[in-house]
Amino acid sequence: MARQYFTHKGVLFPCLDYSPEALSYVENEFQVQDDDVFNVTYPKSGTNWMLEILSLIRCDGDPDWVCSVLNWERAPWVDNQTGLKAALKYSPPRLICSHLPVQLFPKSLQHSKAKIIYTLRCPKDVLVSLYHFSKPLHLFKDPGSLDSFFEDFLRGNVPYGSWFDHVTGWMGLKGNENFFPITYEELQQDPLGSVRRICHFLGKELSEEQVAAVVENASFQSMKGNKMSNFSQVEEKYMDHEKGELLRKGNTWYE
Ligand code: A3P
Repeated sequence: MARQYFTHKGVLFPCLDYSPEALSYVENEFQVQDDDVFNVTYPKSGTNWMLEILSLIRCDGDPDWVCSVLNWERAPWVDNQTGLKAALKYSPPRLICSHLPVQLFPKSLQHSKAKIIYTLRCPKDVLVSLYHFSKPLHLFKDPGSLDSFFEDFLRGNVPYGSWFDHVTGWMGLKGNENFFPITYEELQQDPLGSVRRICHFLGKELSEEQVAAVVENASFQSMKGNKMSNFSQVEEKYMDHEKGELLRKGNTWYE
């Protein structure tokens, strides 16, 4: 089932480790808890960077947790079957990742105080990053040429659907007190200020030294050298490590 897609409610999903039944369960039955923190993004928008920041904030900047526990165990992906099982077993307070578009997100969010951090990134950089990551990741189809992939991207003919719909849908929550939007570019331009704002949103007080430790331990270089965060431990079934890596360039120049 590697590199095949199915369509669920008009959105493409990988066949490997995803199913319409699990997606329906997540949308209709998954119970969001008031102390959940969700790290939500369109793919390749800085999900793992934000996950590292959130993990470190939880530990007051101490890198022990991010250096000893795999990132997808620290914050399971509720969208796929493996991640969903892990999320259901997670002792609260949960940290959960998702790329789901807003209309497929757990409905129980509406009646909860759970916090959503939505990271968005310039679509040109998302396009290029997704193009390169589609080569090693067996969940995604081989992207073909950049020109043809560009067409697929514009049409939303890629996993998780249209970037434009995803961002428009989630940004409809802007102004809600439990919704915090931030951009990849803000994280790059002002990492200390961004971490301070995230802490404020989470109601977590960190000292200036602890904020600096979060930024340092979540830097591109720190994550690239941390096998718990750099995807080097992803099984061959899911990823061909010869063909690419998660921590590719970390730039904002469409390359
Ligand atoms: P590039 O492919 O442009 O290098 P996601 O985690 O959503 O899959 O996003 C992956 C993108 O975020 C990759 O972009 C990766 O390099 C970048 N990234 C991951 N960690 C980062 C960090 N600490 N600082 C800057 N960029 C980071």
